[in-house]
Amino acid sequence: MDQAQRLRQLVERKKQELQQKRFKVITVSSGKGGVGKTSFVVNFATALSKRGLKVCVLDADFGMANVDIMFGCMSKFSIIDVLEGNKSIDEIILKTIDGVEIMPGGSGLSKIYTIDEDKKNQIISQFDKLNDYDILIIDTGAGASENVLKFIEIADEVIVITNSEPTALTDAYSLIKIIYLNNLNSNINIVVNRAKNNQDAEETFNKICYTVKTFIGKNIKYLGYIVEDIKIGQAIKKQTPYVLEHPNTEFTLCINKIVAKIMGIEENNKSKYTSFRDYITKLFKAVGK
Ligand SMILES: Nc1ncnc2c1ncn2[C@@H]1O[C@H](COP(=O)(O)OP(=O)(O)O)[C@@H](O)[C@H]1O
Ligand SMILES: [Mg+2]
Repeated sequence: MDQAQRLRQLVERKKQELQQKRFKVITVSSGKGGVGKTSFVVNFATALSKRGLKVCVLDADFGMANVDIMFGCMSKFSIIDVLEGNKSIDEIILKTIDGVEIMPGGSGLSKIYTIDEDKKNQIISQFDKLNDYDILIIDTGAGASENVLKFIEIADEVIVITNSEPTALTDAYSLIKIIYLNNLNSNINIVVNRAKNNQDAEETFNKICYTVKTFIGKNIKYLGYIVEDIKIGQAIKKQTPYVLEHPNTEFTLCINKIVAKIMGIEENNKSKYTSFRDYITKLFKAVGK
């Protein structure tokens, strides 16, 4: 092959790469429970969907799953039914009124250990039908359980939610320490929830940033903050995403700023995945390890 041919081939490959649809995966986690992961996920997903992205939320807080409830729809089935062969993947997905789709995680992924390779491949190939999603957001349980760490390890971006309470900060630090010491993922972003204002949030971020830098020698990114808003509780009771009901509040502005920032990061950092199938293949491998 001469140089001109090689160059043509290179250009062709680059063109194909550019045309190839990317699929982004963001895992949302926290050290301590009850800091606002699910409230964030529901509103973040809704805001991304309003920007025209096709969003899927995987509810991976096994045992405490409540994404569906916050969206006002109840799931009867979960990924467990798919793993057991009773349902197909499109039968378990819930569609919310504002376009976000939910994949209920059920009671965990441990069922994967009992499935043979043929069955696994058959399930993975079902994900070919889901190739119009742009982004997957995973709501995990709190703490550094093995399951949560798998979702963190294979994500494009990790968002760790904390508030300003010393217990939440200490637990967030412990989770971040485990992520770094095990080289799981270096794209860690902090969101400070229930802040009084911008300055209050930055003070909270600086505390955790300083601790991580001093004791682990790493830099973490500040993705933004969300203000304390009493109406969040009311939105949960009403089972409607807050940002839909209150588009002009400070809370919604905070969420929109985070959306803009993450979309910027997404453009710069290339995703690890080309499709949902690609991600699920990796997840099955990671869980089966
Ligand atoms: N920004 C906020 N302002 C006021 N209350 C909040 C805020 N974020 C979360 N909450 C409240 O905190 C509680 C726990 O939130 P949740 O999203 O379920 O946390 P997690 O998923 O981390 O367990 C909920 O009752 C919710 O109303
Ligand atoms: Mg939750």
